[in-house]
Amino acid sequence: MPILRTLPIIFCLFIAGLVSMPAQAAGDVERGSVLATVCLGCHGIAGYRNAYPTYRVPKLGGQHEDYLVISLSGYKSQSRPHQTMQAQTADLSEQNIMDLAAYFSAQQELSSGNPKTGGQIGRGKEKAAICTACHGANGVSAMPNWPTLAGQHEDYLQQALTQYKLGSRKDPVMAGQVMNLSEEDIKDLAAYYAAQPGLVSLH
Ligand code: HEC
Ligand code: HEC
Repeated sequence: MPILRTLPIIFCLFIAGLVSMPAQAAGDVERGSVLATVCLGCHGIAGYRNAYPTYRVPKLGGQHEDYLVISLSGYKSQSRPHQTMQAQTADLSEQNIMDLAAYFSAQQELSSGNPKTGGQIGRGKEKAAICTACHGANGVSAMPNWPTLAGQHEDYLQQALTQYKLGSRKDPVMAGQVMNLSEEDIKDLAAYYAAQPGLVSLH
């Protein structure tokens, strides 16, 4: 009876998986803060912009740790486009990525949201009804692998949504979400999320 013979092996693999889990999940905030020095040259300067197309460099303070690991690994494997970030992550080890993610996510204090934005915040809130299941009622996502949008820069949010729509940034979930959004919808949604209390720039 082969199934009975394989059961103990499956059980051992299961236990081994459980035991090794905590070691994998742990990023070191202290090590991350040292590694982050180079990152703050862009991410730590309020309003620092990507040259072309021009949009503000995303805020990382208070972002979910798991999402930061996903996004940094995406740049490293080049499945997420952006030459500068691909270069920044090329030599990072998995441990370095976890340490950086732990450092940036450790920021607990919420910003008060960005001042007045270009889109219509009220309309954005209505349109965001379909986004809340994943990104939370006010843009603070319930799941650690879904990015928090609250307080993020408006122009970065526009840029990200446009990239999903054009297909240059690939994600099967978000591709479906943005398919039917007009340019105006994107502006309104970005304005709404940018105005919510949330992410911060670390200095
Ligand atoms: C020369 C400027 C620059 C430096 C240095 C830099 N970044 Fe970035 N970073 C950017 C830009 C611009 C983007 C937006 C790229 C895009 O549109 O995908 C970005 C995006 C990111 C994102 C994606 C955020 C999100 O919400 O998806 C993460 C995470 C990130 N950077 C982390 C880092 C870390 C960690 C370092 C240091 C190892 C670093 N960056 C160094 C400019 C920089
Ligand atoms: C089913 C879950 C789900 C829904 C619904 C959803 N999203 Fe997302 N969203 C995600 C995931 C997962 C990611 C990360 C994808 C990646 O790694 O690129 C993401 C990423 C994003 C990003 C990029 C954030 C960053 O920091 O780069 C923006 C902006 C965004 N979503 C906006 C929206 C808006 C606006 C809506 C509603 C129209 C929406 N999402 C609906 C799951 C969802």
